[in-house]
Amino acid sequence: MAPRLRVAVLAGGRSSEHEISLASARSVLESLDPEQYDVVTVAIGRDGRWELGSGAGDGSVAETLPVPAANAPATLGAVDVVLPILHGPFGEDGTVQGLLELVGVAYVGAGVAASALCMDKDLFKKVLRDSGISVARHAALRPGDPVENPFGYPCFVKPARLGSSVGISKVHDEAELGPALELAFRHDEKVLIEELLDGIEVEVGVLGNFEPVASLPGQIVPLGHEWYDYASKYDEGGMDLVIPPALPADVIEQVQRTAVEAFRVTECEGMARVDCFVVDGNQVVVNELNTIPGFTATSVYAKLFDASGLPYPELLRRLIDLALERRQRRSKLQY
Ligand SMILES: Nc1ncnc2c1ncn2[C@@H]1O[C@H](COP(=O)(O)OP(=O)(O)O)[C@@H](O)[C@H]1O
Ligand SMILES: [Mg+2]
Repeated sequence: MAPRLRVAVLAGGRSSEHEISLASARSVLESLDPEQYDVVTVAIGRDGRWELGSGAGDGSVAETLPVPAANAPATLGAVDVVLPILHGPFGEDGTVQGLLELVGVAYVGAGVAASALCMDKDLFKKVLRDSGISVARHAALRPGDPVENPFGYPCFVKPARLGSSVGISKVHDEAELGPALELAFRHDEKVLIEELLDGIEVEVGVLGNFEPVASLPGQIVPLGHEWYDYASKYDEGGMDLVIPPALPADVIEQVQRTAVEAFRVTECEGMARVDCFVVDGNQVVVNELNTIPGFTATSVYAKLFDASGLPYPELLRRLIDLALERRQRRSKLQY
């Protein structure tokens, strides 16, 4: 029998998406075949402490990074591949990816630069625009900047680097602008005002390294919510996912091509979920790209690939193989 692959799942983390990450990690643990994979979990607390979980045997606690942590990086160095199933700041933004690069271990998903780029909704849009991919017009504000909204109402106000709709407001008139900015600034030192994208909201899964492929798109239909806010995302029955959306085949292909293109120009690897709007029936506008999308077996990313003929356990296998392939390839580089 081939030796089992040693896998570490990083879960939890310091961001407000801590709980979502734990749910994703549970799904991953349930779906990794124990015959094939020897899994250890590393639970990262909201306070940043790293704790070796089930599988490690001792349940010992490592120091908060970057204080020299006896256990966690040593453990990570001793595994074949790491699955950072972390969302938002300190997980999806290149910080943990940087640690994994230093440890020299294979890991699933985007590298340091792509992670940091895609986490930042301001920089991300600039790169896409420069590559000829349509995105919403936006302005980025720092604390103390004069407030001007050139986009009219409604518009969206959001922290530059967060997720799960936390800190985001749909702003209906000028009176709501101040409070919306105040809310967003509680979460980030950079805040975006964006023009409203008035269209059909669709999400696409992308999988691969140099030859990424797109899943079927799915349409997000918020139920009982004006837009796809936190409650719509996570409350039972808060949204409907329609796969594929009721759009002409050429528009669906256009959405898929755009998603792959966005993945390429941001230099993503492994996986991403690309979120778009289809405006005026056929104009594809990219809203954002998530390098570590919600990852339970019933999350949008998994559902999209399942509907495209790739069931969740197989999706996980592919992602692990892609991580190993990248590590293997890059180990041959001379620095
Ligand atoms: N410019 C926009 N026009 C229309 N809807 C938007 C816009 N920006 C965000 N939204 C809505 O808000 C949701 C969350 O915004 P998003 O930028 O995706 O942030 P998050 O990273 O928190 O998911 C989107 O899924 C969409 O429904
Ligand atoms: Mg989003």
